[in-house]
Amino acid sequence: MGYKDVYEAWQADPEAFWMEAAEAIDWDEKPSKALFDKGENLYEWFADGRCNTCWNAVDRHVEAGRGEQTAIIHDSPLTHSKREISYAELRNRVATLAGALRAKGIEKGDRVIIYMPMIPEALEAMLACGRLGAIHSVVFGGFAANELAVRIDDAKPKAIIAASCGLEPGRVVHYKPLLDGAIDIAGHKPEFCVIFQREQEVAELREGRDVNWHGFQYGVEPAECVPVEGNHPSYILYTSGTTGQPKGVIRHTAGQLVALNWTMKNIYNVDPGDVFWAASDVGWVVGHSYIAYAPLIHGNTTIVFEGKPVGTPDAGTFWRVISEHKVRSFFTAPTAFRAVKREDPKGEFVGKYDLSALNAIYLAGERADPDTIIWTQEMTGKPVYDHWWQTETGWTIAGNPVGIEPLPVKLGSPTVPMPGYDVRILGDDGHELAAGELGAIAIKLPLPPGTLPNLWNAEERFRKSYLSTFPGYYETGDAGMIDEDGYLYIMARTDDVINVAGHRLSTGGMEEVLAAHPDVAECAVIGVSDALKGQMPVGFLCLSKGVNRPHEEIVDECVKMVRDQIGPVAAFKKAVVVDRLPKTRSGKILRATMVSIADGADWKMPATVDDPAIFGEIAEALRTIGYAK
Ligand code: COA
Ligand code: AMP
Repeated sequence: MGYKDVYEAWQADPEAFWMEAAEAIDWDEKPSKALFDKGENLYEWFADGRCNTCWNAVDRHVEAGRGEQTAIIHDSPLTHSKREISYAELRNRVATLAGALRAKGIEKGDRVIIYMPMIPEALEAMLACGRLGAIHSVVFGGFAANELAVRIDDAKPKAIIAASCGLEPGRVVHYKPLLDGAIDIAGHKPEFCVIFQREQEVAELREGRDVNWHGFQYGVEPAECVPVEGNHPSYILYTSGTTGQPKGVIRHTAGQLVALNWTMKNIYNVDPGDVFWAASDVGWVVGHSYIAYAPLIHGNTTIVFEGKPVGTPDAGTFWRVISEHKVRSFFTAPTAFRAVKREDPKGEFVGKYDLSALNAIYLAGERADPDTIIWTQEMTGKPVYDHWWQTETGWTIAGNPVGIEPLPVKLGSPTVPMPGYDVRILGDDGHELAAGELGAIAIKLPLPPGTLPNLWNAEERFRKSYLSTFPGYYETGDAGMIDEDGYLYIMARTDDVINVAGHRLSTGGMEEVLAAHPDVAECAVIGVSDALKGQMPVGFLCLSKGVNRPHEEIVDECVKMVRDQIGPVAAFKKAVVVDRLPKTRSGKILRATMVSIADGADWKMPATVDDPAIFGEIAEALRTIGYAK
């Protein structure tokens, strides 16, 4: 069967399609049906089945005789170390960790925040939660204490599992003080924290609250897998929305198991036993789905890579890891290849390594620019496939179904919708647009298994953010078009979310921080084009009357505030003081026009602008910081 047949088979009978895919999962009780319509546009999958994430990702492979196969390879150029963990070892380690958590009172439904760098223990912590039916929420290490505090207050974890430190090139990231700071800020206090002490930095434990990862496991009874309902949340992952309050995307247990398992062969074209590598971070959705869950559920070997594409130690790192561990499918963000290309434009490092085991390279997380795709293809001689998805969906909305049938690549397009996704392009009034016309990208409900069923404790926000603009559809927040051949093109976000080095960030969240500066009366943050990171945030600050301190001082303070409150990952380094901001007569800041000016793109004077002369002032201000040439 080719892609068209498979897609049509899903369209003709989605119920049968997903029930068949569900056969590949081990169930404690099989579901009676696939889709559960909860009414008012809410849906769940396999809700009356019973299963366990950890069983499917770990134990069942041991039972099936794969115990000796390597489950996790930790390759850390930052610590100059490598380590392998077999499925049998992983099962024992996770069962003991889960047993220790259970002994401290963690049960099904309890939330556990995980704040860890790229070490296998991060995956073990996730799996131990899954083993007990506890709901984890992994927080990315590049966020500041305040962001962690916001997540603690929303998820209300009974426990937090953290490492003593993370490592970035040239510096140690002091996780423990960040964690202590976050708990001090948060209104909710966890009952206990489990600290994994790394040799690079041993943290001080707070008596009565903190326990040592190894110590608290001593002598405990290993825990068995607890079967949970198909619609039991497996995790909450916070992602940026238009405001500083992140959205808690929920993932249900059974849908995630069924959908992710399906993608491994059909999209990534790997078989059980193959080595699969996603160079991302466990704190992002790519890390959840394709470092932790999908490869393990499918019986692959996954790589936990603690390093950067360049500088750890050089631009050949990716090729070394691929050749050394015989990676068959490799997944990263385009920005990573842009970084490699900048250091090694002629691909001299590529030639030093044997990439014969590698079948294909997959890109996602941000728009894949044709130059990067062509360069990567030419240097490696391997096909490069763009695919489009979001934290909310957890897996590919549109991609190249290579395991079914590789479709011809059209540069600039992530290819075609996957089964499960009925993708439409809609105009502002909600009617469907013709091929080639640009509009909002929406997905007809229901979304497939493995996608978000709701937001954590925020159903109204879920409806408002995704379901209300186009009734009967999920609004993706991306704009684009579909061509005559059914290929999708993703052009831009329709909201104020920006994408910096494949990381999704909220300009609204940064504005909230800047607005709190005592001298700032009003502000705006936009995402301007950046050759390496795709986009970079730039801030515009209007100062309160009577402030006559040097502007550089205020800008420096603002940059520091964003770093301290959101984190280094915001990459907020540039801001400029202006007298006023361009606004419509109704007071809306014209951010899109400011972006066009910064990027040197063509732009039209918005009809509703209050005073056209303002754009000259904005261009002038941008020139002082190197934009709008
Ligand atoms: N913990 C603490 N700090 C972190 C961090 C983490 N896990 N990850 C990043 N940071 C810090 C960086 O050290 C940097 O700090 P600095 O301002 O002191 O230099 C800042 O956050 C910005 O990081 P980043 O945007 O990653 O920039 P970079 O210059 O360090 O690296 C790339 C640039 C392109 C090499 C890097 O972004 C990359 O490898 N991207 C891959 C994309 C990816 O993994 N995307 C995930 C979705 S697929
Ligand atoms: P995240 O939730 O962090 O994965 O970010 C999702 C957003 O990143 C999408 O809504 C898009 O705006 C963007 N994105 C992800 N993958 C692609 C892609 N292949 N092409 C274009 N944009 C993408």
